[in-house]
Amino acid sequence: MDRIRIVGGERLNGTIPISGAKNAALPLMIASLLTRETLTLNNIPRLADVTLLARILGNHGIDVTIAGKKAGQRTSDGQTFRLTAPDIVDTTAPYEMVARMRASFWVLAPLVARCGRAKVSLPGGCAIGTRPVDMHLTTLEALGAEIELEGGYVIARAPRGLTGNRIALSKVSVGATHNALMAAVLARGETVIENAAREPEVADVANCLVKMGARIEGIGSATLWVQGRETLHSAEHTVLPDRIETGTYAMAVAMTGGEVFLDGARGDLLQDALQLLRSTGVEIEEKPTGIKVARNGGGLSAVSVETQPFPGFPTDLQAQLIALMCIANGTSTVRETIFENRFMHVQELARLGARIDLKGDTALVTGVSGLRGAQVMATDLRASVSLIIAGLAAQGETMIGRVYHLDRGFERIEEKLGKCGARIERLSS
Ligand code: EPZ
Repeated sequence: MDRIRIVGGERLNGTIPISGAKNAALPLMIASLLTRETLTLNNIPRLADVTLLARILGNHGIDVTIAGKKAGQRTSDGQTFRLTAPDIVDTTAPYEMVARMRASFWVLAPLVARCGRAKVSLPGGCAIGTRPVDMHLTTLEALGAEIELEGGYVIARAPRGLTGNRIALSKVSVGATHNALMAAVLARGETVIENAAREPEVADVANCLVKMGARIEGIGSATLWVQGRETLHSAEHTVLPDRIETGTYAMAVAMTGGEVFLDGARGDLLQDALQLLRSTGVEIEEKPTGIKVARNGGGLSAVSVETQPFPGFPTDLQAQLIALMCIANGTSTVRETIFENRFMHVQELARLGARIDLKGDTALVTGVSGLRGAQVMATDLRASVSLIIAGLAAQGETMIGRVYHLDRGFERIEEKLGKCGARIERLSS
């Protein structure tokens, strides 16, 4: 199992290219199930989750080809995938595959919408809470599907197709919104989705569906109106930049000090997170082609924040913020409101000398004058990266085990940080 070794204490200086967003790339790839024609997706990041999903989609009959490099293209430009599914050969998504990546459960809606049936294993994914799928199922039921649970599988049937309806989501859910949208675009008549997630990745998928011929209004808002179509067609779409990768590297620079240009990053995708970072004392300058982040000398101020759906502070940056607040002046309060068990990084950060008190859903982080390197264990994707950025700021050596979590969501992280002066290496075993 690979490990990552960091010798901390170096400032970060240089440029980090921001990859395409994992959490848009995955549902965009899944959207290719909705049409017989080819969906071309640019700026797909090189990630373990993308590779796994390509295999899962291949199982359903999708032909996935990766276009060769074009002249002048850099590795950081992302890949171009062409996904074509003239016929769906299998409407079952087996346990072995879905258990390894939660987003693969999202094939359920497009399979039912296109084929009238699907059998999909209940999902796995990062261990950050119970993560139910009740809203995914009630959404499909509202559109006329019959749902049964059998042997750990969801079996959905709609032999006469889906019919539009009003769907009021009881909680803001990214996955349930993707699911509702992908079902509604091929349903008969109008669907109104209320309390929809406004995350930029949801809007990115909706914009791609429109290019495929879907009729969707209200994109980016909490109410989506969809007029179903009989079929969708080919389209080309470029995945938006990863706001979580952007926020993570911004916090890394905030921790180590230095000045880094996040090439391709978009400030509008970060909203409250960018404001919060500014309030800690980090210099942030939005430019037409990216974001410059700098901290030269000044200390960091403590903050008080709770995670919220977009445009609020994202749960996917909570672990990284806690790492950053470990070296701020004073005590910060970080409340997690989206997932009930997303504090696995706290005990590992404590091994680096952090002072964090957990009280229910709230972490009280009291800044210390410096962290010290130690051996730690990655527990989930975002927790892992919080250990990386803490290790970069800690004095001495930090060794991080179980880094396969990182490879699910951060493209070439050692290379990107190494080029900015970090002493970081991967030890393969
Ligand atoms: C997406 O997960 C992301 N995953 C997560 O990123 C992210 O943390 C999360 O949205 C919140 O922003 C992808 O996009 C692939 P939700 P998702 O449904 O869709 C509850 C990462 O690290 N809920 O928005 O699974 C749920 O338990 C990952 O990249 C129900 O109760 O999250 C949670 O409390 C981790 N019933 C809340 O809604 C349901 O049927 C929001 O979850 C569905 C969700």
